[in-house]
Amino acid sequence: MEKRTWLDASLPLKKRVALLMDAMTLDEKIAQMVQISYSVVTSEEADKWASTGAGSFLHVLGNNSRRLQRLATENRLGIPVIFGIDAIHGHAIHNGATVFPSQLALACSWNTNLAEKMGEVTAREVAAEGLHWTFSPVFCLGRDLRWGRVNETFGEDAFLSGKMGTAVIRGYQGDDPSHPERIIACAKHYIAYGESTGGRDSYETPIGMRTVRDIFLPPFAEAARAGCLTFMAGYQTIDRVPCSAHKKLLREILKDELGFTGFVVTDWSNVTSLIKRQKITDNFEDASRIAIEAGNDMIMTSPEFYEATRSLAKKGKIDLTLIDDSVARILRVKFIAGLFDVPEKIKTLSLEKDPTAEESNRVFNCEAHQAVNYETAVQSMVLLKNDEVKGTPALPIRGKDDKDVHSVLPQGSPRTVNTVAVIGPNSDSVRAQFGDWTFFTHPVPHLDAIPELHVTTMLEGIREVASQQGVKVLWDKGCDIFDPAKESIARACSIASKADAVFVCLGDTLIQTGEGHDRADLALSGAQDALTDALAVVCKKKKIPLIAILVNGKPLEFERVVNNADAVLETFNSGTLGGRAAADILFGKVAPQGRLPISFPRKTGQLPVYYNQVPGWHDGSYFDCEATPLFAFGEGLSYTWFSYENIQLSQKTASKTDTIQVSVTVTNTGACASTETVQLYVTDCYSSITTTVRELKGFTKVYLEAGKSKKVTIDLAVESLAIINEEEQAVVENGEFNIQIGHDSRPESLLATILTVK
Ligand code: BGC
Repeated sequence: MEKRTWLDASLPLKKRVALLMDAMTLDEKIAQMVQISYSVVTSEEADKWASTGAGSFLHVLGNNSRRLQRLATENRLGIPVIFGIDAIHGHAIHNGATVFPSQLALACSWNTNLAEKMGEVTAREVAAEGLHWTFSPVFCLGRDLRWGRVNETFGEDAFLSGKMGTAVIRGYQGDDPSHPERIIACAKHYIAYGESTGGRDSYETPIGMRTVRDIFLPPFAEAARAGCLTFMAGYQTIDRVPCSAHKKLLREILKDELGFTGFVVTDWSNVTSLIKRQKITDNFEDASRIAIEAGNDMIMTSPEFYEATRSLAKKGKIDLTLIDDSVARILRVKFIAGLFDVPEKIKTLSLEKDPTAEESNRVFNCEAHQAVNYETAVQSMVLLKNDEVKGTPALPIRGKDDKDVHSVLPQGSPRTVNTVAVIGPNSDSVRAQFGDWTFFTHPVPHLDAIPELHVTTMLEGIREVASQQGVKVLWDKGCDIFDPAKESIARACSIASKADAVFVCLGDTLIQTGEGHDRADLALSGAQDALTDALAVVCKKKKIPLIAILVNGKPLEFERVVNNADAVLETFNSGTLGGRAAADILFGKVAPQGRLPISFPRKTGQLPVYYNQVPGWHDGSYFDCEATPLFAFGEGLSYTWFSYENIQLSQKTASKTDTIQVSVTVTNTGACASTETVQLYVTDCYSSITTTVRELKGFTKVYLEAGKSKKVTIDLAVESLAIINEEEQAVVENGEFNIQIGHDSRPESLLATILTVK
């Protein structure tokens, strides 16, 4: 047997990689570049690939990973497999693991510490299954809401996405990804995938390099700087070049310019798609060569790549140093991830012995993880409207038996209720609440699965809190997501008429959101609008509040609901504990503090409505729709109010290398404690190219007791005010910049002052 000198952990990383590379045959190297999906092969085929030395598998759950790892490590050189999984909002593909709020929901928290904790918990649960690597976070921007995958994004803004995403990466990888509770992250999908034409998944992204560099590259660049060890290439073409064939983006920008030293994995069958869909060649040899030359290192689910590349090599048609570079990158990550030392990921998962259910349950959805999940769900919810009904805000409500003192309850007497009605198709729907990328949807959908963990739906959450406060809960579904539902609406109205407050839970369900589920029309489906119309009539007559709870993957056309309802709470896909978190907000036990990471349209035809548009000539309105969105980026209410005063710059004139401080005094002017998210925006007053109306450049959260003020300071690096010039370089131009700080992205919410850059 070959002496495995590379196993000596005292050697420098580079040396270990080199020693192993020297021992490898060309075939062994090519096999390292192959990634096989366990969801589309038989177990015999999978075993064969493990014995052939395939570098990676994805979608392997349970004890199968240990079987495959045993086979791989029995090979000539014993190179372990790296297992990848889509743990997108928690390790949610594993029934029984913690299901977190979606990435879009998490972004509503604007809380990077929480994002990091979410990453940590997910890492612990993925590692507990013996897996090393998650295909997360997603740095695509959700700017065309017709796109099915908006739920997977951190919303529409590159700055927020960069901050939240790098926090998640820190949570996954920690300082040492070989730690038994850390895993490898993957920044995806590189790049501008969400911008495909018409919101149609994986269609052409018709943008030039200036926009790529200005809008879409910054969060990925931040991920590379944060040490994210893998990147995934997007599906689509950009200005006609498939992402996986894009040498400039992958090799020149990502690897050479940004200095990314990890490896690039293609997305699902990208190499096959070069032939079958994107048609830039008609055979696997060319497709494999193009992919390697462009800078892809690992090839997901195009197994033909293996033979095609061996054949290319035999014919001398591929530069072998490119293969060496790819393989060295893959091995480097495997060494960093500690695979050569502990291939099963954590020692207790011995390759010889599978863990008992009891051992697994000590990790999956354990109490400590539930606590992080609950906090994430609470901070992910956004109060969008809270009008008064009979002189009192619609929310919060409280039961007559509630004796607790909640600091977040407005003083005086909040609305006291004896009976509430809970209505709507999403009031008791685990699937709608979970959203995409759970065991219901991927990789092999188990639509009829029964969740192995306790889930609190909206109805259950309200029932739980109501029962502690002596409040009676009446329930009716009202309608299905798709049906016309005349009779059930009448039934729902009749129970509403017996209540002191009515909750209606609306939105979308699994098949209306997620990958491959784009929508041409974002109107609420079925009888949901009709249901709300009818309930509004009952509530107005009785002078009781109608409160809409939105359970949806992404923004939909909610204008009619918002007009009908007195209060609106957006919860998106809130995960296992979403119902409990929502109920605690509704009953005033915790304060709502989420802010929108994405703008809501009035109508589908108004898209795109993101805040940072390049200005046009005619105010942006349509003949049949006004210019403003229904809700703008950054918006969100509390049970109190905040005022902003006295914006100040540490210096009014700055040079291009300076970092200045922008400060403002924030006061909680209401009657209860809450947390405000202070947002900093910048507008370039005049520049050599047309810039967007404003761009988020900083944010921070501040907790304030009722009546208290605080001076809040945010750093602004002048370097971040750069434009991209014709040579694709980032340059800061001399001139004036309008610095704005306040509650949200709408001009009326912001205080402003001028900074001059010289
Ligand atoms: C998705 C990726 C995902 C991969 C593996 C693809 O269809 O676009 O986001 O990581 O499948 O499941």
